[in-house]
Amino acid sequence: MPVSRIRALFVAAVAMGVLTGCDQSGSTPPATSGAAPASTPANLGTNTPAATGGDTPAGTTLTSGEPGEAAPVHGDTILVGHFASMTGKEATFGQSTDNGIRLALKEINDQGGLNGKKLEVITYDDKGDSKEAGTAVTRLITSDHVVAVLGEVASSLSLAGGSVCEQYGVPMISPSSTNPSVTRGKEMVFRVCFIDPFQAAAISQFITDNLKLTKAAILYDQTQAYSKGLRDDFTKAFTAAGGTVVADQAYSGGDADFSAQLTTIKAASPEIIFVPGYYTEGGNIAIQARKLGITVPLIGGDGWDSSQLGAIGGAAIEGSYYSNHSAPDQPNMTEFVSKYRAAYDGQTPDALGGLGYDAMMVLFDAMKRAPSLSGKDLAQAIAQTKDFHGVTGNITIDKDHNAQKGVVIVQMTNGKPVFAAAVDPSAKK
Ligand code: PHE
Repeated sequence: MPVSRIRALFVAAVAMGVLTGCDQSGSTPPATSGAAPASTPANLGTNTPAATGGDTPAGTTLTSGEPGEAAPVHGDTILVGHFASMTGKEATFGQSTDNGIRLALKEINDQGGLNGKKLEVITYDDKGDSKEAGTAVTRLITSDHVVAVLGEVASSLSLAGGSVCEQYGVPMISPSSTNPSVTRGKEMVFRVCFIDPFQAAAISQFITDNLKLTKAAILYDQTQAYSKGLRDDFTKAFTAAGGTVVADQAYSGGDADFSAQLTTIKAASPEIIFVPGYYTEGGNIAIQARKLGITVPLIGGDGWDSSQLGAIGGAAIEGSYYSNHSAPDQPNMTEFVSKYRAAYDGQTPDALGGLGYDAMMVLFDAMKRAPSLSGKDLAQAIAQTKDFHGVTGNITIDKDHNAQKGVVIVQMTNGKPVFAAAVDPSAKK
């Protein structure tokens, strides 16, 4: 049976939810064998049965380390790994990023790939869980033999996956993890986005200079490195700018009841509430705040960026703000937004679509410059990325393996994020 046919059957089985323990070698747990989302259109090479009738289409997703499906079968293609929350509470993070990566992948392969060799991306679902993330990356490296890894979105998961990449000497590019510790001290880990001290300074500046408010409350997720870091960085920046944090409350990701914290916050009479967490809790917190009669705006960080924020928060989230890497209605995003819409049933990309696209393109650019695809050579080429024109801005990898890019603030308007301001805290100093 041709390999493509085996894969088609396998994916069909996954899609029907009947295959749970596919790895007969027993060396890797089956939990990480996530398939690409069923919504990925066939023209981007999803590994749907329809797309795998004959020749393997460009950009096909390998969905599992089936026995015999590791590197040898794919001697003619270059494998790249992606670990992502394709399901779970942060599912849009993984899905949007994967969409962006596959858009870039298609363009790369349509233009001939790397010296005639096609690239393939293998995506494993980590379900938004850091243990699963570590397992997924281990599997990508030791069983699929990928040359590089893309991911994650959530900083905690990038920390988990990054340690594995570091251990095996395989380069990793996070499209969107903003906590400084993700790349700190790591030789193999890079990102194509800004970091949280900068993001926090931008949020603080927007509150004090644009909204002219000085009293903020904070409600953060104590289980997420990203949220804790952003809360610390914001507190420093806001206090330094003359603002006061009138209440500082915590929750744990997955919580559903925020009424105790919100009651304390209400009593402190803030003019705005900063909620540096992810979108599911962001939307629910907005609903519960309004129920308690809190009318001041909420402001989130990039972790709010999801098509689900408006869907969950509804009227309660209207008028609130969050910081982000890009806004779909920015003039410089027009071209990418229309490309993405054409590929994905008219969906408007969130920032993660563009960041996933940029991460893939930065990796490919480095592959072209690297003397070989060994981990060491590839990492060095990524480190030398300079003034790369990404859809989310120009990308130069600095000595700390980070990119310096602009922060935008969006405002939720009719359920969608609308550009409100571009904020550059570095211009102020
Ligand atoms: N910056 C967030 C983190 O580090 C992830 C994120 C980025 C989420 C962009 C949404 C959009 O955890």
